[in-house]
Amino acid sequence: MKAAVIAGQGVAPVYGDFPEPEPAKDCVMIDVETAGLGGWDVLGAYRLAVQYPCVLRGEGVGRAEDGRRVYFGERSVAPWGGWAERTIVPAAEVWDVPDDVDDRTAITMAIAGTGALVPLESAAIKPGENVLILGATGTLGQLALQLARILGAGRVVGASRNATALARLRERGIADGVVTMGTEDDVAALKSEAGDGYDVVLDLVCGAPMVAALKATRWGARIVTVGTGAGAAINISAGDLLFRTMTVVGTGQRPPADREQIWRRLLDMAREHAITVDHLEYDLPRIGDAWDAQKAGPHAKITGRITG
Ligand SMILES: NC(=O)c1ccc[n+]([C@@H]2O[C@H](COP(=O)([O-])OP(=O)(O)OC[C@H]3O[C@@H](n4cnc5c(N)ncnc54)[C@H](OP(=O)(O)O)[C@@H]3O)[C@@H](O)[C@H]2O)c1
Repeated sequence: MKAAVIAGQGVAPVYGDFPEPEPAKDCVMIDVETAGLGGWDVLGAYRLAVQYPCVLRGEGVGRAEDGRRVYFGERSVAPWGGWAERTIVPAAEVWDVPDDVDDRTAITMAIAGTGALVPLESAAIKPGENVLILGATGTLGQLALQLARILGAGRVVGASRNATALARLRERGIADGVVTMGTEDDVAALKSEAGDGYDVVLDLVCGAPMVAALKATRWGARIVTVGTGAGAAINISAGDLLFRTMTVVGTGQRPPADREQIWRRLLDMAREHAITVDHLEYDLPRIGDAWDAQKAGPHAKITGRITG
C-alpha cells in the first residue's frame, strides 16, 4: 500500500510503499480517507521507543471493515499509522463520526479541540473575564479564542509572534485584541490589551512568553499551560505568582471513553457556534511539503487526503 514512511530517527517521512497492516486482537482495520498532522506527530515520530521503518502516525477519518465511517486517534498499532491507505487501531480509539460532520471537523475537534477545551474549562472562566491565548495563531489557539468566548469570557486577546497571522485573527473576528510578541517590552504590550490585566491565560508555548504573560495578569488569575514550544524550563519570581494559580494540563493521557465524550461535546459546540479553523490540505504524495509546513508553524490545521 502507499504510505508516508519514516526511515529512521530524524528522517522526514517520504511517500512510498509499506506492507499492509496485519489483523490484531481488539483492533479495527481502517481504510483511511483523511489524516491529520499536528506538532505532536512531529515530536512523536522520533520518540525513543519508535522502531523504523514506520508509517507516520497521525489521527484520521476512514471506513472500518464493517462500513462504519470512523474517527481514529493517533494510536495506530506500530509500525502502522494514519498517513497510509490502511491502518489498524485499538477499538477503543475508533469512534463513529456523525453523518453531518466532515472529516476536517472530526479531526480538528479531536486532539486539538480537546487540548484547547479541557484546560479552558479547568480555568473556570467567569462571565466577562479577560482571557489571553498565548500562541493564538496555531490550531489550538484559533480554537481556544472561540471556545473562551463560548465559555463566557469578556475580552479575548490572542498573542504570538507573526503579525500577519495575528491580523488574520482580527479579520475573522475571533480575537478582540492581538499582541505581537518579541518586542522590547512584551509585558507592556500584553498589558496594553488587557485593561486591569488578564484573569485567565491559556499558555500554548511556555518559556519566556509565559513569564511575560504572568506579569500581565491580575490577582486571582489562572494560568494553564498545555504546550512548551518556547521552552519547558521557566524562571519566575514568587511575587509574580502572588494570588495566582499556575497549572500544566495534559489531555492525551485520559481514558479513551473520556476523550470520546469530550470530542462529542466539541462536535456539538462546533455545530452550534460555527467554530472555524484555517486549514491546509495536501495529497498523500505531498507528505514532504505537509511535514515542512507543520515544522515551520503553519497557522492552520493540516490534513492529508489519503484516498476518496
Ligand atoms: N497538553 C495537551 O493535552 C495538548 C494537546 C494538544 C496540543 N498540545 C500542545 O499545544 C501546543 C499548541 O498546539 P498547536 O497545534 O496549536 O501548535 P502550533 O501550530 O505550533 O501553534 C503554536 C503557536 O504558538 C506561536 N508561538 C510559537 N513560539 C512562540 C513564542 N516564542 N512566542 C509567542 N508565540 C509563539 C506560533 O505562532 P507565531 O508563528 O505567530 O508565533 C504558533 O502558531 C503544542 O505545543 C502542542 O504540542 C497540548
